[in-house]
Amino acid sequence: MSPTNSFRAWLVHILLVFSTALLADADDQVPLGMASGTAPRRVAIVGAGAGGSSAAYYLRQYADYFRIPVNLTVFERNPYVGGRSTTVNVFDNASYPVELGASIFVEVNYNLMDAAKKFGLNLTGAGQSRPNEAEEMIGIWDGERFVYTQSESLSWWNIAKLLWRYGLAPIRTRNLMKDTVNRFVKLYQRPYFPFSSLSSVAVELGLNKATAATGAEFLEANGISAAFSREIIQASTRVNYGQNLALIHGLETMVCMATDGAVFVENGNWQIFAGMLNSSQANVNLNTAVTSIKRNSNGTFTVSHVHDNHSPEQSLFDDVVIAGPFQESGIAISPPLDHVPDTIPYVTLHVTLFSSPHRLSPRFFNLEDTEVPETVLTTLPQGLDLGPREDGVGPSGFWSISTLAKVQPPAEHEASDTPQEHYVYKIFSPERPTAEFLASVLGVDAPQGAGNLTIGDLPKQDISWFYEKTWHSYPYLYPRQTFEQISLASNLWYTSGIESFISTMETSSLMGMNVAGLMIENWLGRHVEWNRWTKTDSTEL
Ligand SMILES: Cc1cc2nc3c(=O)[nH]c(=O)nc-3n(C[C@H](O)[C@H](O)[C@H](O)COP(=O)(O)OP(=O)(O)OC[C@H]3O[C@@H](n4cnc5c(N)ncnc54)[C@H](O)[C@@H]3O)c2cc1C
Ligand SMILES: *[C@@H]1O[C@H](CO)[C@@H](O)[C@H](O)[C@H]1NC(C)=O
Ligand SMILES: *[C@@H]1O[C@H](CO)[C@@H](O)[C@H](O)[C@H]1NC(C)=O
Ligand SMILES: *[C@@H]1O[C@H](CO)[C@@H](O)[C@H](O)[C@H]1NC(C)=O
Ligand SMILES: *[C@@H]1O[C@H](CO)[C@@H](O)[C@H](O)[C@H]1NC(C)=O
Ligand SMILES: *[C@@H]1O[C@H](CO)[C@@H](O)[C@H](O)[C@H]1NC(C)=O
Ligand SMILES: *[C@@H]1O[C@H](CO)[C@@H](O)[C@H](O)[C@H]1NC(C)=O
Repeated sequence: MSPTNSFRAWLVHILLVFSTALLADADDQVPLGMASGTAPRRVAIVGAGAGGSSAAYYLRQYADYFRIPVNLTVFERNPYVGGRSTTVNVFDNASYPVELGASIFVEVNYNLMDAAKKFGLNLTGAGQSRPNEAEEMIGIWDGERFVYTQSESLSWWNIAKLLWRYGLAPIRTRNLMKDTVNRFVKLYQRPYFPFSSLSSVAVELGLNKATAATGAEFLEANGISAAFSREIIQASTRVNYGQNLALIHGLETMVCMATDGAVFVENGNWQIFAGMLNSSQANVNLNTAVTSIKRNSNGTFTVSHVHDNHSPEQSLFDDVVIAGPFQESGIAISPPLDHVPDTIPYVTLHVTLFSSPHRLSPRFFNLEDTEVPETVLTTLPQGLDLGPREDGVGPSGFWSISTLAKVQPPAEHEASDTPQEHYVYKIFSPERPTAEFLASVLGVDAPQGAGNLTIGDLPKQDISWFYEKTWHSYPYLYPRQTFEQISLASNLWYTSGIESFISTMETSSLMGMNVAGLMIENWLGRHVEWNRWTKTDSTEL
């Protein structure tokens, strides 16, 4: 062989090793897969959020590798891809998109990180688009006073002030978080992947201890002080999940503290899921709701779907993935399932986005002259224990107020000669904010009868743009040890049970990938020695 040829052979070899090592072990013979000429497996995926897009994306990769012909169809009742990951534009200007739902993910979120890289999306560090004008970046407000403020916004760790104030608690918390994350990331690897029961794999990984206890119990059992838990950790469970430590379980509490490498995709995280769907070559049907799934006696499914206001259509599939909370899907399944996923309580979260020329009012926050931190998180005041109450917001009345960015308003909003940038704010609250509340947060006069008025009743000179959205954002994460079935019936799969374990874009993606793995094993009728394809070498934080 000439040197060039041997180099080429080597290159081909390396490329093959690279492409196949991602999926299977050397002992998994290059598969023959299905006989050529077999009709493609018809797969319906209901939902184009993180879970459904990931199911399609990984299923396409695995099926191609195993040479199984598949025809993927995604049904999404919204007019857009992304589900709870979606943006809206300030001033309706596409130059200023802001996240209305899921806003950040972190470096151990392998699926999201890998996909963003693969699709050439730009990542920005969380908080980097903030105005950065105030001395303090983060403040934790208890409804009366700031119990803690910090000038750096990106990390809770390595901050002298934190260690000075809370002693060993931050270090203990970080170690506990690292231990928890290192267990969690094993879900991406054999022998755990793909898992047919989340309840079992949680026990195998020792994560059931964290899910069985409330955050408060879990932290106390691990020697973390009540002051640090209430002032810092609870501020984080409240901004991320709208719940206190006496309710939310220990595992989700740890997720709230796993903030290393927090980023977002420039112009919208939903682009990851759009990229996944494009790459999956699925037929994507937007504005199309699945209304019923009939399990036929020959094992196929007749899926009824309605596009806009047209009359229902029916299509036949071999497999169906339900990739959104079942209780909100409106899908009737016949004959009935042996076990229907339980209805679980979801947080009702009001997200209020708006722009204003005004800064946050020091007076509202009982400050004299100092500026208000750009991100205001909240906690309960010392001595107030609301236990596991769902209406646990306490005296602050809101979960968080963040200053997201500064933007140039369109000409009609500018005060005559001096063009002034406006601030963009995001409020998370359990109730719709009143005009009175908003006016006092901005330090402007409230209009008459403001107790009953809302944001649209405030003058344009104070609120130049706004957008309100009520989400069922995530479950109340009560302590539990069992999680919904992943296989609801033969060839009928469900991704959203993972939300009671951890509710994030990445975990929905993981479950989409997991279901894809289970489907492949099911079709092949054997276990596959999946190799790890995520960068698990870097999991030691
Ligand atoms: C305000 C907010 C902030 C958040 N912050 C973060 C964050 O910072 N980081 C993070 O990782 N996570 C965050 N989350 C959580 C995250 O958004 C979700 O965990 C994740 O996006 C869920 O993805 P999913 O695909 O499982 O569900 P969804 O995104 O809800 O997708 C399900 C899809 O199914 C569709 N669907 C349902 N039924 C039908 C039907 N019958 N027919 C057709 N289509 C149907 C729905 O329209 C929806 O698009 C946040 C959520 C909210 C609301
Ligand atoms: C895939 O299925 C859709 C309808 O479910 C059908 O219109 C399309 O022709 C199929 N594509 C292939 C390649 O079989
Ligand atoms: C959108 O914002 C950009 C950046 O400030 C600006 O250049 C552009 O004119 C705006 N577009 C509209 C339609 O206002
Ligand atoms: C990423 O950022 C670069 C530099 O700002 C830009 O040229 C490029 O278009 C961006 N890519 C995407 C996908 O937004
Ligand atoms: C969609 O996927 C194809 C490959 O399947 C790729 O060539 C193309 O660039 C992708 N388009 C976008 C917009 O990502
Ligand atoms: C399975 O049953 C469905 C519904 O009765 C029918 O439309 C379909 O043709 C059947 N498929 C096979 C392979 O028998
Ligand atoms: C608010 O509106 C209700 C009816 O919509 C009315 O009965 C009530 O008096 C109003 N309260 C105030 C403070 O204006």
